[in-house]
Amino acid sequence: MLEELKEANEYIIGKIKEEDKLVLEMEEYAKEHNVPIVTKEVAEYLKFMIDINKSKNILEVGTAIGYSGILMGTVAKKYNGKLVTIEIDEERYKLAQENFKKSGLDNITSILGDATEEIKKLDEEFDFVFIDASKGHYMEFFNDSYKLLKKDGIIFIDNIMFRGYLYKEYPKRFKTIVRRLDEFINYLYENYNFTLVPFGDGIGLLKKED
Ligand SMILES: C[S@@+](CC[C@H](N)C(=O)[O-])C[C@H]1O[C@@H](n2cnc3c(N)ncnc32)[C@H](O)[C@@H]1O
Repeated sequence: MLEELKEANEYIIGKIKEEDKLVLEMEEYAKEHNVPIVTKEVAEYLKFMIDINKSKNILEVGTAIGYSGILMGTVAKKYNGKLVTIEIDEERYKLAQENFKKSGLDNITSILGDATEEIKKLDEEFDFVFIDASKGHYMEFFNDSYKLLKKDGIIFIDNIMFRGYLYKEYPKRFKTIVRRLDEFINYLYENYNFTLVPFGDGIGLLKKED
């Protein structure tokens, strides 16, 4: 979460009332086991974007335990939509599969593998892409999924401002990742209909024009 906006984000989180038992259990599990999942205020925004876009075919890069997958799959269901989600870690992939089963959703396909290889194998079009995996590969995830994105489709990129390290002092070990993310943001602004949203850990939003 961007520290500068921490209080505003916490205020928003305080307003969100989640009642779904499985979703609450997954939040607890993620906390206990240090699984990074989308923050609650970003999750709300993500669901909202999918809803206003009436997304029918969603691609997620980075499933983890299926938390955001269940949230997105639930909204997509309203529009007879579906979700394809990719996870590299076998243990998380298995947990996500169990959670998808518990959710009763039948519109989610999960893939075990490295998204830098798996996206290239997909042979379908998407109208919404959620990128939420290793930041060092964001450019590659983006380029591969953009090819599969329909006109007017949306790409939603989480954690793009990486704890605010893109504009303030950061630990030296993050030098390469900070430089890469900054170059990625420049590339997106220069070439696409793109905007940054200082929300959560920073969100990048892109709409495909043609
Ligand atoms: C931030 S977590 C995803 C959280 C999930 N979207 C949610 O909000 O519930 C990022 C996940 O991406 C996975 N990941 C990292 N690199 C990946 C890659 N190259 N291909 C597929 N998954 C990857 C990690 O194992 C991790 O579980």
